[in-house]
This record gives sequence, C-alpha cells and structure tokens, in this order.
Amino acid sequence: MIDVLPDHTDAYLQAVGPQPDDVLVEMDEYAEEHGFPHVGPALGGWLQLLTGMVDAERVFEFGSGYGYSAYWFARALDDDGQIVLTEIDEDELALGREFLARGGHESIARFEHGDALDVVERYDGPFDVVLIDHQKHRYVDAFEAAYPDQAEPVTFENVALAIEVFESTLLTPDAPLDRFLRGDADALTETQKEGLHLFAERGCAACHRGINLGGHGYYPFGVVERPDAFVRPEDDLGRYTVTHVEADRYAFKSPTLRNVALTPPYFHSGTVWSLEDAVRLMGDVQLGSELTEDEVDKLTAFMHALTGEQPEVTVPVLPDITDATPRPDPAATLPDPDAAP
Ligand code: HEC
Repeated sequence: MIDVLPDHTDAYLQAVGPQPDDVLVEMDEYAEEHGFPHVGPALGGWLQLLTGMVDAERVFEFGSGYGYSAYWFARALDDDGQIVLTEIDEDELALGREFLARGGHESIARFEHGDALDVVERYDGPFDVVLIDHQKHRYVDAFEAAYPDQAEPVTFENVALAIEVFESTLLTPDAPLDRFLRGDADALTETQKEGLHLFAERGCAACHRGINLGGHGYYPFGVVERPDAFVRPEDDLGRYTVTHVEADRYAFKSPTLRNVALTPPYFHSGTVWSLEDAVRLMGDVQLGSELTEDEVDKLTAFMHALTGEQPEVTVPVLPDITDATPRPDPAATLPDPDAAP
C-alpha cells in the first residue's frame, strides 16, 4: 500500500468509511502479495464517499493499475454512470476487468489500454471526478491535459476548485421565496407575503440583504439596545477582537437567513432556540421598536419561506463518544481581546 496517511487517520477512515466487499478484500491481498502500490481500503473508501457526495456520474482515471481505486469509484456510481480506466500495462488492465466484472461493475466501466494522456484526448468532458494517479513526475502533464487553456495549471486555485465544485453541490435552491421571485405568486402564503413586506419595511433587509439575505457584512449586535448578556456575553467583543477598531466592538456578521428555520440555535452564542424569539429579539435590539406578536408571527412565517431543497449528503458515521472524547469549551476558545491584531 502507498503510505500516505498517518496511522491514526488510516484507522479512522477505515472505521467510518464504506467497508470493502469480498472482491476488494481479495484485491487488497493481491496488492499485498505482489507488492503493488495501491491506495488501500481507507483511501479507497474515501474516494467512494466523496464521489457519492458530489453525485458524480462520470469518473476518469489517469492510470488505473489493476483497477483497485476504479472499483471503489464504481461502487458510488449509478447504473448509467461511467468510469474510464486507463492503463499502459495490458495484463494489469485485464486483471482490472476481471475484478470489476466479478463485482458487477463491468457495464459502467471502459477499459482503455494505452497512455492516459492519449486516451483523454479521445474523450469529451466534462468528468465529475478525475483521479490523477499517473506516474508522479507527469502530474504536470496531466493537469495540463485537464486544463488545456492554462499555461501553468498546477495551482492552488485549481486544487481549491475541486473543493468549490463540491461546495457548489450544497446549494439549497427553490425556496418558496425563490419561486415567488421567479413569478410564482402562489409560492408564498398570504401571511408570508405580509412577513416579506414587514421584512423590507421594518428594516431587517438593511442588514440581511442580497440573494442570501445576509452573510455580506458585519453589524453591531445591539444597535439600539444591548442584548441580554446570555445572548451576547460581555467579554465577547466580536469583530473588534480581530480589527481592534472601536466601531467594531460587538459587531458580528449578519448571518444568511436562508434555511434559518432549520438551523437553531440562533446567534453566534447559540443561546436562543426558538425562531420566534430570535425574530423578536432582532426587533428589540436592532430596530428599537418592539414588534407586535402579530408582526413576529408574520416575520417568522416569512423565515420559513427561506427553506430550500436540501442536498443529500452521505455523512460518515462517527465513532461512539467515550469518556476520553474531548468536549468543546466555546468560552475557552475566545481570542484574547488585548492581543495584537
Ligand atoms: C443592524 C443590522 C441588523 C438588523 C436591522 C437586523 N438584523 Fe438580524 N442579525 C444581525 C446580526 C449582526 C445577527 C447575528 C448576531 C449574532 O450572531 O450574535 C443577526 C441575526 C439574526 C437572526 C439569527 C440567525 C442565526 O442563524 O443565528 C435572525 C433570525 C435575524 N437576525 C432576523 C432578523 C429580522 C427578522 C430582522 C428585522 C426584524 C433583523 N434580523 C434585523 C443584524 C441585523
């Protein structure tokens, strides 16, 4: 196995990731016997997990060996998915075909004998996942093949792009408000429409604005009135801790209100559990005009119109909590306000 992970990470991934089936166990043994540098079950399981998370339909491998990682990828693909294996060694590729066939994955696999860089020329993109386990000194060539328009494609940005692509699958589109804005007048209830009206008229939209209804800037928490210390602890100075600018004292990022109905507890201190209470408190401390119960109800109803379709993400099952598991202590992690910025 290629030794890329620290032992404890390896053990962790194997414990929480998808488990190998009989064929994979056999492939592991094969690698062991023949000294084949395969990625091993911890990384293999991780590849499967990530591929599933981004709902990948097409995977391309630059270098497949005897099909070990391809097998893990294949487990994450639907029947109409596609995985392209490339390998310069014909015998290894044939072995890969055998293994994938035994696992029932042959129909979605393409076995390409030859240099991966030649093979990729013959395929039209896009691929959702590209594995570059090519001869390492040719990584640069492989990146260049994947990004033909760029002079120096092995960049921090292109690596970050992969993360971005995953994050872009986490969008929660089609909230009732989105449908309303697209012209579907019935997407909001009457109460929600009145809530939307209040949201604009009462000035909530001044701080919670834009497509995400917030998330764009820092605002003092307690513009008009100081929130109770349990909601905004006295020694929790917010943005000031970072900038040391007086105006930033007790300033916090105005959070996005998308999906807010699904994400209690509220405020950075996580102390308010009911959405009604959070809305009421905003009226008190940010607007300085107490909201009537009727207004609170309408604004809260509007908050529910911000819940979009949630992506399906398969999260790993974490190991049981034991006495030895460290617990977070939020208070202990507050930065020292007197420290230099
Ligand atoms: C002056 C700016 C400002 C105004 C006006 C304002 N908010 Fe806020 N809002 C904030 C800030 C800043 C926070 C985050 C405070 C924190 O994290 O402790 C927040 C937090 C919230 C939260 C909790 C969100 C979460 O995920 O924790 C809700 C709900 C909310 N606001 C709704 C409203 C409503 C409804 C109005 C109008 C009645 C309103 N806000 C007016 C700045 C504002």
